Amino acid sequence: MDPQRLKDNFALVGTHGQDVTAYFYSDLFERDPALRPLFPASMAKQEQMLLEALVQVVSLVDDAPALVPYAQELGRRHAGYGVTSEHYPQVGASLLATLEYFSGPAWNQELANDWATAFGLLSQIMSEAAAEAAS
Ligand code: HEM
Repeated sequence: MDPQRLKDNFALVGTHGQDVTAYFYSDLFERDPALRPLFPASMAKQEQMLLEALVQVVSLVDDAPALVPYAQELGRRHAGYGVTSEHYPQVGASLLATLEYFSGPAWNQELANDWATAFGLLSQIMSEAAAEAAS
């Protein structure tokens, strides 16, 4: 995984602002409508929070000592939202589809691999922390 390549791609995608998170959630709810009731009726605040969290995760992607506790806390809170480890791959698929869409011609296989690796690690830390909190 190349952290700088990931950061550069996220900066490019971020130029599309809130359209990115709106696209992400519509893709996610189309993929699995059963996830919609987990979220509040109005998604505006949620979209903003997701964007801020992604900015934070991407900025810490090459700083494991800071990223791990952040992801653990986020994972523990997600257990309280009714999120289980089976939900993560669906969210990962929507995230990759969203990044691909907004990257346009800049998208390539290396970026797809970088994001899949980064999201896989984040999901693992989050769901392990959630499982520990529940036990
Ligand atoms: C793996 C990367 C993920 C990130 C970065 C992320 C980020 C966030 C953030 C920042 C919040 C706001 C509340 C808080 O900070 O605790 C949130 C809430 C939430 N997330 Fe995630 N999330 C992720 C994965 C997931 C997954 C896999 C699901 C499953 C569907 C999910 C469903 C939810 C729900 C239901 C809420 C609460 C909505 C509410 O009641 O206000 N998230 N997420």
